[in-house]
Amino acid sequence: MDMTTFWPLLQKKVDTMIERIGSKSPHVDKEGVYDDFRLDWWTSGFWPGILWIMYDMTKDEKYSRHAWEWDSKIEACFLQENNFHHDVGFQFLPTAVAKYRMTGDKDGRRRGLQAANFLAGRFNLAGRFLRAWNQEKHGWAIIDSSMNLSLLLWAAEEIADSRFKQAAMAHADTVLEYFIRNDGSVRHIVSFDPDTGAFLESLGGQGYSPTSAWSRGQAWAFHGMANVYRYTREQRYLDAAKRVAHYFMAQTAVDPIPLWDFRTGDADLQLKDTSAASCAASGLIEIADLVPGEEAHLYRNQALRIMEALTERYAVLDHSRESILREGTGNKPAEQNVNVGLIYGDYFYVETAAKLMNWKNRIF
Ligand code: GLY
Repeated sequence: MDMTTFWPLLQKKVDTMIERIGSKSPHVDKEGVYDDFRLDWWTSGFWPGILWIMYDMTKDEKYSRHAWEWDSKIEACFLQENNFHHDVGFQFLPTAVAKYRMTGDKDGRRRGLQAANFLAGRFNLAGRFLRAWNQEKHGWAIIDSSMNLSLLLWAAEEIADSRFKQAAMAHADTVLEYFIRNDGSVRHIVSFDPDTGAFLESLGGQGYSPTSAWSRGQAWAFHGMANVYRYTREQRYLDAAKRVAHYFMAQTAVDPIPLWDFRTGDADLQLKDTSAASCAASGLIEIADLVPGEEAHLYRNQALRIMEALTERYAVLDHSRESILREGTGNKPAEQNVNVGLIYGDYFYVETAAKLMNWKNRIF
């Protein structure tokens, strides 16, 4: 894949998206048009994240102008009834924190730190995990949180307060102990007794079953653990990231684009999740950047294989759809957002392309 000829095409697509998406908060594209979804929803940071990456790559102020208000709009949800939860990292890292890192904006810093405080406040001391979701699910932890740990690790460095790092590492250690199986596959949800922290059961969640391997969850896990290693340099997180990545690569040896779950029943064998693919590609480059040169090829080549397959078979770079990637799977067990464009799939596709163009700054 020749990135120097591909990148301008991607940039042109994002320019088209700016015109078409306007002030919408895009989440799902079902028939060529993105919806306009709730700002407190976990996906609201991804479109501005695409814009911040474009800004960082080009320094064209068109992108920062369109991205600028998002952290303030998302923050405003804190002042009303909202459903913010474990995924605030997905919302504030690609908006507030990215803005602060790229422009020095003090409000971005403040909002990022406020979100980190909120996330740290979800820590369950008895079970050493960040609780998932809200409502009655007091003892639930989920693999998606792995990607949100970067918010705590950033805050720890930003204000030199190791409490945030302690909470992130404690949660990551719980992931190592309870989520990642010996074969490198990963559970989606683990339920703990919220008072004692004792393990109760694992649940299928967005995966096929409690014993299955939801492909986006595998990608969240190894990308997330690679991030934790980048911040902490504790070898066990890199080892875990590699183990899960190896499982993912084995499952995608024939076709680099994963099924929505690697252990589904026969009937589902054609259903892909391109968002798992793009997140995995970004995570594989992360691992490649963290291991010695002779090891890095394996991960970088697989990321390239994924990007080539996505670009040839699933990417729409013309005006015919607002989203970039077709055939994302949001939540198959709930039959929600199946075979659609997903803004997080698009985000990680752009992020991976930037990384392949040697972009060295990081959002997660
Ligand atoms: N964080 C929810 C998901 O991956 O679908």
